[in-house]
Amino acid sequence: MASVTSLSDSVQQHLASALSATLPEAAGADPLLRRSDRADYQANGVLALAKKAKANPRELATQVVAQVTSGDLIQEIEVSGPGFLNITIADRAITENLAARYADDTGRLGVPYVPNPGTTVIDYAQPNVAKEMHVGHLRSAVIGDAVVKLLEFTGENVIRRHHIGDWGTQFGMLIQYLDEHPHELDHKANAADTEASGEEAMSNLDRLYKTARKLFDSDEEFKTRARLRVVDLQAGDPATLAIWQKFVDESKIYFFSVFEKLDMEIRDADIVGESGYNDMLDETCRLLEESGVAVRSEGALCVFFDDIKGPEGNPVPLIVRKSDGGYGYAATDLSAIRDRVFSLKANSLIYVVDARQSLHFKMVFETARRAGWLNDEDIKAYQLAFGTVLGKDGKPFKTREGETVKLVDLLDEAVDRATAVVREKDTLGQLSDAEVAERGAQVGIGAVKYADLSTSANRDYKFDLDQMVSLNGDTSVYLQYAYARIQSILRKAGEVRPQPHAELELAEAERALALHVDAFAETVTDSAAEYAPHKLAAYLYQLASLYTTFYDKCPVLKAETAEQVENRLFLCDVTARTLHQGMGLLGIRTPERL
Ligand code: ARG
Repeated sequence: MASVTSLSDSVQQHLASALSATLPEAAGADPLLRRSDRADYQANGVLALAKKAKANPRELATQVVAQVTSGDLIQEIEVSGPGFLNITIADRAITENLAARYADDTGRLGVPYVPNPGTTVIDYAQPNVAKEMHVGHLRSAVIGDAVVKLLEFTGENVIRRHHIGDWGTQFGMLIQYLDEHPHELDHKANAADTEASGEEAMSNLDRLYKTARKLFDSDEEFKTRARLRVVDLQAGDPATLAIWQKFVDESKIYFFSVFEKLDMEIRDADIVGESGYNDMLDETCRLLEESGVAVRSEGALCVFFDDIKGPEGNPVPLIVRKSDGGYGYAATDLSAIRDRVFSLKANSLIYVVDARQSLHFKMVFETARRAGWLNDEDIKAYQLAFGTVLGKDGKPFKTREGETVKLVDLLDEAVDRATAVVREKDTLGQLSDAEVAERGAQVGIGAVKYADLSTSANRDYKFDLDQMVSLNGDTSVYLQYAYARIQSILRKAGEVRPQPHAELELAEAERALALHVDAFAETVTDSAAEYAPHKLAAYLYQLASLYTTFYDKCPVLKAETAEQVENRLFLCDVTARTLHQGMGLLGIRTPERL
């Protein structure tokens, strides 16, 4: 089914032709249309045009109005104020537009695909091997997942990359220890239970890490053996790699259990960690050195930047290869760019990474640009940088003992709180324990995701569970309740089915709701293009608010005529579908009953 032209786009087109018919030089000018509370839309574009043409804006506006063919779409258009145009849409056109969205059997609500999709590689959800995932890993996963869904929805070819930290000198110590104590990673738990296996995997890794560390710090001979092991690892010694692989596999069991708790699909094939670029590192350095992008400085291979200086004014270089020959984070990221651009054929590279790594990415991207791997036209890289998760005190979120907070603990607590809310709301005791648990997880995880996604990524936010699971205000629970309430009305309607009746006049609350539903398409398109899920979140919150007003003002099942009942049920259902689709793009479930 074809996409549906939104009402605002149709009005926009009408106005644009009226403008150019009035004033030839206005061809292609933007009428600057927006929603207004005086009429359905207001267009302010005439003002700038009048200024340019040295014409009187009110007169020009009047001429434009005369050119507008007030046909089926525009019911009324009038000049207001200094030369604004106030536009009212015909009720019939509004209902017919929503009916067309409703009839889209692909479930896309008539949202168009982007005309020229490209290939985007998105780097997100990148925890580190043999380490606990903490609150800092939440944002990358949640924001990345939403951006993946948004882009895929618009038709973009999306390739996911989980750039896990699976390489580095710390593995020498771990491998050596496991080699000397081979049964430390053995399993006891039931492998079918992901959560139990995940927990056991992490506690094994954690215990092993701590004992290995103790030995490393106290036993000089072990320390020497561990250091030699790093050399074996880097040289690709098969026995050493086999032990290293055990750490990676064990960690993945744990990662998958956390991502499952986050209700997020992460595919093994998309996990390409730092180690995945080992074979490219030498060549990356050679290319950079040959092209003169990198130079040797005190034995290291470095890239310098005019505008990047340390506190004393000395240039701070990007070190691609250390003086001991070792490669670090920068060499891996530069090699990953080559892979993503030349093998995966990406046009856009997105990195969903903490803002505290912005300097690193600035230097890496600039280096790649100088090397000709990136440019400003068709192969671009962008760090979707996110701010810090803060505690209630406004400082970076820590436990009372000052330690970083484990992500699983946080998620478990959110689910516990949400389960309590669900149980409390179920006053008639209609839900079984299993249902309460399922809803609790959907509400709790939704609350965490929504709180993260509803603030723009670059800002810090406070992790406040009380606020997150509150039924009032800008929370996912509020949106989920709006959805569940609609489902309950549709169930109560029984045999009476939603059915648009375009001949009916619309009440104020109905048209406000309907015009907002129509704006879903452009919201999704903009959120995807700007990698800004918070815009979709804000849209959905407003949708639920407008629905609440509609519900208060317009009786649905007790409406005056049978046609009105059907039409209002239709408005309910198209709102529900929009909520469901929009929340789905944010990775949040909409339970049918709450
Ligand atoms: N593993 C890193 C961390 O935990 C994030 C990796 C980000 N991605 C990248 N390509 N450098 O901080």
